[in-house]
Amino acid sequence: MGKKTMKALPINRSPEWKALEEHFLQVKNLHLRELFAEDPGRARRFSLSAGDLFLDYSKNLVTARTLDLLLALAERAGLPAEIAEMFAGEKINRTENRAVLHTALRAPKGDRIMVDGVNVVEDVHRVLDRMSAFARRVREGKWKGFGGKPVRNVVNLGIGGSDLGPAMAASALKPYSDRGLDVSFVSNIDGTHLAETLRGLDPAETLFIVCSKTFTTQETMTNAAAAREWCVAGLGDPSAVSRHFVAVSTNREKVAEFGIDPENIFEFWDWVGGRYSLCSAVGLALMVAIGPENFRRMLAGFHEMDVHFRSRPLESNLPVILALLGVWYNNFFGAESYAVLPYDQYLARFPAYLQQLDMESNGKGMDRSGNSVDYQTGPIVWGEPGTNGQHAFYQLIHQGTKLIPTDFIGFAGSHNPLGDHHLKLLANLVAQPQALAFGKTAEEIRTGGTPEELVPFKVFPGNRPSNVILAPKLTPETLGQLIALYEHKIFSQGVIWDIYSFDQWGVELGKALAGRVLGDLSSAAVPAHDSSTNALIRMIRRLRENRKKEGL
Ligand code: F6P
Repeated sequence: MGKKTMKALPINRSPEWKALEEHFLQVKNLHLRELFAEDPGRARRFSLSAGDLFLDYSKNLVTARTLDLLLALAERAGLPAEIAEMFAGEKINRTENRAVLHTALRAPKGDRIMVDGVNVVEDVHRVLDRMSAFARRVREGKWKGFGGKPVRNVVNLGIGGSDLGPAMAASALKPYSDRGLDVSFVSNIDGTHLAETLRGLDPAETLFIVCSKTFTTQETMTNAAAAREWCVAGLGDPSAVSRHFVAVSTNREKVAEFGIDPENIFEFWDWVGGRYSLCSAVGLALMVAIGPENFRRMLAGFHEMDVHFRSRPLESNLPVILALLGVWYNNFFGAESYAVLPYDQYLARFPAYLQQLDMESNGKGMDRSGNSVDYQTGPIVWGEPGTNGQHAFYQLIHQGTKLIPTDFIGFAGSHNPLGDHHLKLLANLVAQPQALAFGKTAEEIRTGGTPEELVPFKVFPGNRPSNVILAPKLTPETLGQLIALYEHKIFSQGVIWDIYSFDQWGVELGKALAGRVLGDLSSAAVPAHDSSTNALIRMIRRLRENRKKEGL
């Protein structure tokens, strides 16, 4: 392992952390009602803008002093230096000895970022140009299938970072997509996902993008092999593969082994983490859907937030402020999770995308010196688009016993201005944080004439924190800014918690065990696991045997 950062003191032994603990005792019983009543300028004071994004963070359980103390904690953790190291291409992913340069994927032509003596920005633009040429050929019907027909269906085969980013963004930017092309995403090893996606498709008009950084991932390779069989069976010739399969990968050898023409490989690099790879060739299916120009608009949005994060002082730095608020609730209030609530149907997959981004990055229990941490790290992320969530789980956020900080995300304009739908959507977006913050007291409820025995049940305690992120419209640029905002928030939190945010060793054990269990499920040998696993294997074997006997 390369050079590692040795922090003088674990972060929770630092004087800055202690000061926050003391401060917490002083402010934990304050109510947002009082904080707003005391300071009419609070909304203005606690709001920030970057690019098209406006952040209102005034409805958080913080005072100006809280923020000062949190900013001091960020300084203590060395955040400014670590931001600089990441952007400079230092190998900050030390357990994998890799640079972390998703920001280079959206750097403008002419920038210079060196990794191992190579200016990676040149490579980035070379691949972007190839992707653009390919996307244009597909969109203009010039990329012909084996039988000479143009492509009408594009199926991305990938999982995790090779699926969630492009799938989420293709849904987010649907208004910018070519409606004559059907772009879908298959990830699950469950054959149903592939079978249902391919149902009714004509292999002669279908193009597969096999998207896998390693080109060894079980789910993707199994789906790719099945798709190849479907294609060859449908077109009657194995040489059809070269017209119907392209690959996105860092592993050229494995791609060639699979039978994909090396001409049709779109490469990326080991300094791009899977969950940070949307701006690389992993975004190829998205680029085909929305076109190269819109894809580049999205990159420009990412870049704008990168510049903001890199150059703004901590106190006016949007990702840093979001990160610090998250640390405040996670480590001092004991919140276990936070909810992301996009008030936009096109962002339906955004919470799922953020789950991987955040939980695979910061779900770590070791600090960078290899010691178990004795403080909380990454939170649980969850959410659903508004207003659906309001009729499902908001009850718990309003009146339950758990503290759930929330991020509300909304857009002033709609791509589908239908009657007064959008104003109603926005009214809900504004009203929910208001209800969460200020609640409704017993006195207020009594004045409405509620029978006394019902009063306690109708009380809203309020004091539930939220952020509101607003932008004029969900465009490629704003989507890029929004994603980069969360990427950098997560990075900043990882620095404060002194963990390695860019590896994911915790996914390996399950993969290895699944390999062993697969061997046992497909043989009659006596399984040699723990008693529960053995019993499950025997049960599955028996059920499958019975099914066979019954001819099902
Ligand atoms: O299992 C987790 C993971 O390694 C993710 O980090 C990654 O995004 C995903 O699998 C897919 O990996 P690949 O792109 O190599 O198929």
